[in-house]
Amino acid sequence: MIKFEHVSLSFGAGNFQLEDINFEVERGEFIFLIGPSGAGKTSILKMILREIYPKSGSVYVDDQLISSRKFKEVEKLRQKIGTIFQDFKIIYDRSVIENLVLSLEILNQKNPKEEALSSLKKVGLEHKANFFPLQLSAGELQRLAIARAMAGGREIILADEPTGNLDPVTSWEIVRLFRQIHDQKKTIVFATHNSEIVNTLKKRVLLVKKGKIIKDSRDGSYKLDNK
Ligand SMILES: Nc1ncnc2c1ncn2[C@@H]1O[C@H](COP(=O)(O)OP(=O)(O)OP(=O)(O)O)[C@@H](O)[C@H]1O
Ligand SMILES: [Mg+2]
Repeated sequence: MIKFEHVSLSFGAGNFQLEDINFEVERGEFIFLIGPSGAGKTSILKMILREIYPKSGSVYVDDQLISSRKFKEVEKLRQKIGTIFQDFKIIYDRSVIENLVLSLEILNQKNPKEEALSSLKKVGLEHKANFFPLQLSAGELQRLAIARAMAGGREIILADEPTGNLDPVTSWEIVRLFRQIHDQKKTIVFATHNSEIVNTLKKRVLLVKKGKIIKDSRDGSYKLDNK
């Protein structure tokens, strides 16, 4: 479903480099991406979205070589992917429900409003449908971002620190939502610093450090110090 082959990336005259990144995520798999701050986790997610290109190597989504400059179906690619990024990318002068409906309209959904409401229900936010984002708490905003990522049957969910800045109780609510999403056979790539969550869920873990993937393990534990 997602495949990185010999991917390298560099920024700032080589100050930051990812080198020879190789991994594959199968359909329906849930993986954690961990590593110190600045290791390149967000950059990996952005390559899956084709927001940035690798310097060399190949990125595939659904067997399509999306890292090629010739790849034309960017819109279709992004319709498959729901994202929960730290800055939310929410439209602040639209209500909660309008934010969802807008993101569904690009998927040509038949009943965007119905789908939006059903998605809001899943995250327990239907009572705030007509609120504006600034009237929501951080955890509620996070849930709105998750509702938007889930809505419309997107197959891949990319989450970048979705529990950052949340209190422990709210973080676990968010984790519960991710488990539900995973039960629906979505493919999830979850970048995080939250060791408790990684250690509890026991999913596959990719550790990015010093420009490389230095661990790809199914033991589901969060250890940054592994060689
Ligand atoms: N557009 C850019 N131009 C130049 N450098 C960049 C750019 N985007 C990211 N970087 C650099 O690339 C490195 C990796 O950034 P990235 O955001 O991928 O790290 P991260 O692992 O997600 O870190 P964090 O855990 O803090 O979110 C950082 O040193 C960052 O400064
Ligand atoms: Mg990041």
